[in-house]
Order: sequence, then C-alpha cells, then structure tokens
Amino acid sequence: MPSTSVHATATTPRRRRARPRSPGPPSAQTIQRTVPSVTADSFSKSSEGADTGRVSDCCDSGSYRATFSDRFARRLARRYRRHGLNRTQRRLVGFLAARGIEGATVLEIGGGVGDLQVELLRRRAASVTNLELSTGYEEQARDLLERSGLKGRVERRFIDIAVSPDQVEAADVVVLHRVVCCYPDYHRLLSSAGGHANRLLVYTHPPAHPFTRFVIGCDNMLRRLRRNDFRAFVHPPDAMLEVLREQGLTVRYRHRGLFWTVVGLERTSIGQPGGHAGA
Ligand SMILES: C[S@@+](CC[C@H](N)C(=O)[O-])C[C@H]1O[C@@H](n2cnc3c(N)ncnc32)[C@H](O)[C@@H]1O
Repeated sequence: MPSTSVHATATTPRRRRARPRSPGPPSAQTIQRTVPSVTADSFSKSSEGADTGRVSDCCDSGSYRATFSDRFARRLARRYRRHGLNRTQRRLVGFLAARGIEGATVLEIGGGVGDLQVELLRRRAASVTNLELSTGYEEQARDLLERSGLKGRVERRFIDIAVSPDQVEAADVVVLHRVVCCYPDYHRLLSSAGGHANRLLVYTHPPAHPFTRFVIGCDNMLRRLRRNDFRAFVHPPDAMLEVLREQGLTVRYRHRGLFWTVVGLERTSIGQPGGHAGA
C-alpha cells in the first residue's frame, strides 16, 4: 500500500481505459454557456505544487479557490466529524451501496474534503480518485483520511474533467455531489462524467423551483458585489438527464428534496462517442 494517502499526482497525461462505443443519434442539446468570466489559471503554483492537467479554460479556478477556501473546508470537515453524512449524502451512498460497490473504483468530481469517499471506502469500494478545482481542501482531506485509517486509497488531482477528459481514467462509479451547480457548462461536465462511468453515476443538483432560483440568485448577487467571479447555477434538470442518457446511462433512482435532488443512474448501453464536448 502506498505510504501517502492524499497526494497530488504529477503532470503525466493519462489515457482513459478504452471502452468501445457505438455511434448514437446526434445530440440535440444546445450548450448553454453562462460563463461570467473566462480566465486561464492553473494550479501549477499551488501550495501543493500540484498541476495534474488543464484546469478549466472555461472557468476562473482562482474564483473556485477563493470560494471553496480552507475555511470552507474546515467547516465541512468539522460538520462531518460531528454529525457524519447528512441526509442527502446518505441517500447518495445508499443508492450506490444498494447497487453494490465492493471492489469498485470511484471517481469523485469536486469531492471537497472527501467525506463521501471515506464512507464509500468503508463500504468496500477499492479506491477513489478525487478531482478538484480548488486546492483549499487538502489539509482537511489529509487529516480525514489519516483519522479514518484509509491512507493510500485516495488519489487527489487538480484537473477539470470537462476540459481534459482524456487525462482522467474511467471508473466503475462516478460521483458529483453539489458540483454541477458550481459549473457553468453542465453539458460538457456531465457528458465527460457520464463517459467516465463504467457502471454507476450519482449526482445531486438544486431543484429548479422558484425558491432555489431566488436563493442562488441572491447569493450570486452578493458575490458580484464582493467582486467574486464564482457563480452558482440552477441548470435544467431534464436537460441534464438527457446528457447522461446520451452517454448510455439510465435513471434508477431519483429523490426530489427541498434543496437537493439526488439522481442515480446505471450504465445500460455504450453511449455516444467521446463522452465529452472536447471530443
Ligand atoms: C459546493 S462544493 C462541494 C464539495 C463537496 N462535494 C461537498 O459536497 O462538500 C463544489 C466543488 O466542486 C468543485 N468543482 C466544480 N466544478 C468542478 C470540475 N469541473 N472539476 C472538479 N471539481 C469541480 C469545486 O471546486 C468545489 O470544490
């Protein structure tokens, strides 16, 4: 077992495991781009010295670092230490556990401090790769894995799968919890994520009702006033599902909560070539 639990890997591009795909119908989905600002920024000068690939040419990764900061990470880690997973997270883990994750490889996109990962590993998942745009979580993530005795089972990388899909390996299970709402181009993100899910994919998103639109709109306005470029999004739920269906995934579970909808999908066919907009 490797000696480090949380490690940022070197820049070597990785190939995805080849999965044959049959051509499907062309996507009718129009990509909605609501990018507030476009700034090329890389983590090559991050405190961890981590640069594992291209970090978003779609979004300003500096604004992710500012928003999902060490302070934000400390709050998440404290909450998990005190209370464990919340109800939405338990639903997400419940879906995966019911489908069977023993020995599974997990790819979590935007996994934050890695609380879900700890729970999936405890339920016998084999290993986790975490992709992040913010370096703010690393200290808490390392601490959490050390406390959990799961050193060496998680690899943490700083890379935007929507931008560099070919640098990320496919996994049995793909997880995106509270992530798609933090990314402007849901089509690109979800098609890449879906294309990397060999068996299961689960994601959460805010429901598209007036209440969440109002709350997220207020939040975005405050950020604008503070000159923070990060924006949250309420993407259209059915259009997001359509992107994943095009990737050969079928909905097996859907829970509509007040703040978060949880959607669990399973691979039932090969999906469209590419699995990402960059193809
Ligand atoms: C609201 S936080 C959620 C963190 C964690 N999943 C949780 O629920 O505590 C959203 C996270 O998604 C990350 N993120 C957004 N788009 C991403 C992408 N394309 N690739 C990797 N991480 C992404 C952000 O950096 C941020 O840390």
